[in-house]
Amino acid sequence: GVVRLADYVAPAWRVDEVELEFDLGISVTQVRARLHLRRSGVTPQALVLDGAGLQLQAIRVDGRELADTQYTLDETSLRIEQLPAVCVLETLALIDPAANSALSGLYLSGSAEHGFLLTQCEAEGFRRITWYPDRPDVLAKFHVLLRADRQRFPVLLANGNPAGSGELEDGRHWVAWVDPHPKPCYLFALVAGRLEKIEQEYRTADGRAVMLRIFAEGDAIARCGYAMDALVRAMRWDEQQYGCNYDLDVFHIVATHDFNMGAMENKGLNIFNAKYLLADPQHSSDDDYAHVEAIVAHEYFHNWTGNRVTCRDWFQLSLKEGLTVYREQQFSADMNSATLKRIEDVQILRRSQFIEDAGPLAHPVRPEQYSAIDNFYTATVYDKGAELVRMIAGRLGAAAWRRGMDEYFLRHDGEAATVEQFLAALGSADGSDLSPYLRWYAQAGTPQLQARGEYDAAQRCYRLDLQQHTPATPGQPHKQALPIPLRLALLGDDGKALPLRLHDSADAPGERVLEFDSDRARFEFQDIDAPRVASLLRGFSAPVRLDAGLGAADLAFLLRFESDGFNRWEAAQQLARLAFAGCLAGAPVVPELGTWCDTLAELFPQAALDPALLAELLTPPELNDLAQSCDPLDPAAAHTAREALEQALAQRLGANALRARHAQLLQAERGDLDGAARARRRLLNRCLRLWLRVEPIAAAAMAAQRYAEAPAMTERLACLAALLAAGAEQAQPALDDFACRYDADPVTLDKWFVLQAQAPRSDTVERVAALMAHPRFSLRNPNRVSALLQNFAVRNLPAFHRPDGAGYVLIEQALAQIDALNPTTAARLATALKDWARLEPARRRLLQASLQRLVRRDSSQDLADILRRTLG
Ligand code: ARG
Ligand code: ZN
Repeated sequence: GVVRLADYVAPAWRVDEVELEFDLGISVTQVRARLHLRRSGVTPQALVLDGAGLQLQAIRVDGRELADTQYTLDETSLRIEQLPAVCVLETLALIDPAANSALSGLYLSGSAEHGFLLTQCEAEGFRRITWYPDRPDVLAKFHVLLRADRQRFPVLLANGNPAGSGELEDGRHWVAWVDPHPKPCYLFALVAGRLEKIEQEYRTADGRAVMLRIFAEGDAIARCGYAMDALVRAMRWDEQQYGCNYDLDVFHIVATHDFNMGAMENKGLNIFNAKYLLADPQHSSDDDYAHVEAIVAHEYFHNWTGNRVTCRDWFQLSLKEGLTVYREQQFSADMNSATLKRIEDVQILRRSQFIEDAGPLAHPVRPEQYSAIDNFYTATVYDKGAELVRMIAGRLGAAAWRRGMDEYFLRHDGEAATVEQFLAALGSADGSDLSPYLRWYAQAGTPQLQARGEYDAAQRCYRLDLQQHTPATPGQPHKQALPIPLRLALLGDDGKALPLRLHDSADAPGERVLEFDSDRARFEFQDIDAPRVASLLRGFSAPVRLDAGLGAADLAFLLRFESDGFNRWEAAQQLARLAFAGCLAGAPVVPELGTWCDTLAELFPQAALDPALLAELLTPPELNDLAQSCDPLDPAAAHTAREALEQALAQRLGANALRARHAQLLQAERGDLDGAARARRRLLNRCLRLWLRVEPIAAAAMAAQRYAEAPAMTERLACLAALLAAGAEQAQPALDDFACRYDADPVTLDKWFVLQAQAPRSDTVERVAALMAHPRFSLRNPNRVSALLQNFAVRNLPAFHRPDGAGYVLIEQALAQIDALNPTTAARLATALKDWARLEPARRRLLQASLQRLVRRDSSQDLADILRRTLG
C-alpha cells in the first residue's frame, strides 16, 4: 500500500516502557516483550501492532492469556479490539536469525559456527523482532535482558547503560541493559557473539565519564584505532560547535561485514559496515580514512540530531539525515581542507543527486508518499537535504544558526519532530521567517538558474539579470520559484573582488549574498569600476544548475585568478564541460579544449597551489556527470569524448613535466597520513594517470614498480588502478598479486572486485560474470554486490551499456536472484537502470526490454516500487 504524508494521524496507543527478554540462538531466538501501553484518546480504539515473520508462542494482557478469539494475527499485524486504557501486553515470539537474508531485524553475520548476531531496525526492522507500533513517533523507555550461551556469545550488547549481568545454568549467562532515554524502536539494537574490543575513557565537557568501546571480530580489532580517534574528535567537536554532550555512561560501536547500509546510529550502540570503520595503512586508502572519519562522526552526531530529537514519521527522514550530513560536512571541513571538502560534496551531489533529480525516481527531499520507505534513503534525502540545511544556516549566519539549533534542541528534545518545527525553531533565533524554504523540501528537481551580467560604463553600474526554472518531475508538472541564495563577487582585472553596493544599501563588501526568490529579477550594483567578470554561486551557495553564460576566456580568467577555491575549481569544471561538448560534437578543432589545456598548463608549475586542489583542477568532471548533458546519451561516445580531454591535457602538459613532477612528489612520499602528505599523494597519482597517456611504457613500468614496493594501500591501489585504466600488460599480474595478498580480508578484496568492475574493457561484462562465480563472491553480501555489480552498472558506463545489451542482461538476472534474498539490496541495484529513457534508441530498447521482463516477475515490494517508478 501507499503511505501518504497528508494522512498522518498521531498514534492511538503509546508505549511508556518496554521490557524485552531474548533467549538468543543462531536459528532459534525467543523474544518476550512486555509493552506498557497507554491509550492516547478517551474513546476505545483497537490496538494494531506491526509484526512480520514472527511465530507466536503466547499472548497475555495484564498477566491473563488471551483466547484465539480475542486477537487477530496476520502476516503483517497483530490486532486486539478490547483493551483497558492502560495495560501490559506480553507476547512471546520465535524467530530464526540464521534464515534472515534480508539483513533487517535480528540476523546472523558470518557463519553459523563463527559469526555473531546483530540487528538493523531502521526503518521497519523492529517488526521482525516483536509485535510493536513500528513508527518513529512512539517513544518508549527500553529495558533489555539478553540470555545466551556464554561460550558462543560471550559479548551481549544492547542500547543504553549496563544494568547487571550474571550466570545461568547450563553454561548460559545474562546481561541487562537500560536505556534511560525514551526512543523509537528503529533505534533499538542488540549484538551477541565473540567479539574483540578496544576501549578508551572520555570525559564530556559537562563532566560525564564515558567508556568508549569499539568491537570487531578477531584481527580486525587492530584496525579500529583510527575510528576511536575520529570518535573522540567528533565528540569534542559537537560539544564545542553545538554544545551537544554525550548522555550515557558507555558508547559502543560494532563492525560487521554484513550490512545493508553504511552504518546505523542505534542509541549508544552504533553498528557499522566494516568498510566504514576499519582503517590501517596496509589495508586502507586515504579516501577510506576520510570515509571512516566522516561516518563515525555522522553516526555519533545522530545522537542529538536523530535520537534526542527524532522524526515524527518517515517523510521527515531528511530532518535527521540532511541535518546530520550537514554537520558531518562541517566537521570534515574543520578537520581537513574546507575547500576540498566542499568540492567533494558537490561532486557527490552532481554525480548522484542531480541525476536522481532529473530522472524517473526524482522525489522531494520530503516525499509526499511512498510504498517502500527503504527506497527513500537516497541522495536527495541525504545530500540535497544537507544542501538545504546549508542554505538555511548560511541565511541565518553562524551566530543565529547556533542559537537556532539551541532552540531546536530546547523545544524538541525527547520528541518526534517535523521539518516545519525545525524551521520554526531556527527562525525564532533572529525572527526570520524560514517558511519559504519549505518549498525546497516539497519540490523535486534541480532548479536551473540563468544569470546574465552587463556593465553600464556610463552609469558605472553592473546589472545582473537572473531567471530560475525548475523542470517538471514525476507527479509535479508545475514548479514554484524557490529562494536561492546567490553568493557572488565582481572581480576586477587583477582578480580582486570589487566593492559591491546595491542601490538600496550603503555597505560595500567585496562579496554579497543575493536572495533571489522569484522567477526573474534584476539586481543593480552601483559605483562599480569596470569589472572583468562576475563570480557567481561562490562555494556552491545553492544546489542549482547555473548557466552564467561565460565563455572560455572568462572561465580561464576565473581559473587563474578567483580567490574562492571552490569557484576556481568550478571554473575548471565549466571549461572542461565546454571542451567536452565540443569533442562530443566532433568539431575538428575545439578552441575551448585548447583554452582548458593552456590554462592548466600555466597553473601546473605554480608551487603555491595546494597539490590536492591542483589534482582536482586537472580532473575533468566524471563521465556520469558529463553524461547528463548528452541528449540522447550514447555512453560510448561520451566516454570517447572525455578520453579526448584527458589525452589532450596530458599532451599539453607534456611527458617531461609530468615525469618530473611525478618523480619529485614520489621522492617526498613516505606514506604519512597527515593532510599535506595526502594532498601530495593525490597529485602524485593524478600525475601518474596523465603521464601514462603520453609515455605509456616508462610510466607503466614505474607504476608496476611502485605497486610492488608500495608502503601502504593508497599507493598500491592507485598504481593498480592506473595500470588497469591504461590497459597496461602489468595490470593482470598486479591484479593476481592483489587477490593473493588480501584474499582473507573482505573489505580489501572488495577493492579488487571494484577495480575489475570499473575496468574500461570490451570484455568487462564477461569478467564480471566470471567474478560472480569467484569463491569469495556472494549475492548474499551487500558489500560484494555493491563492489562488483553496483560499480559495474553505475561507474562503468561504456562497459555496462555495451551495445549488445549484455550488461543489461547480466544485471537483470542478478537482480532476480538478489531480490529473493535481500530486497533492499536488489532495489538499490535496480536504481542503476533508471536512466534508460535518456539512452540512444538502440540501447534504450534493450534496457527497456530488460526492465519489462523484470517488472513481469514476482518481486519484493522494494524492487517492484523501483521498477514501477522507473518505467513510469
Ligand atoms: N540512519 C542510517 C544513517 O544514515 C541509515 C540507515 C538506513 N537504513 C535503511 N533501512 N535504509 O546513518
Ligand atoms: Zn544518517
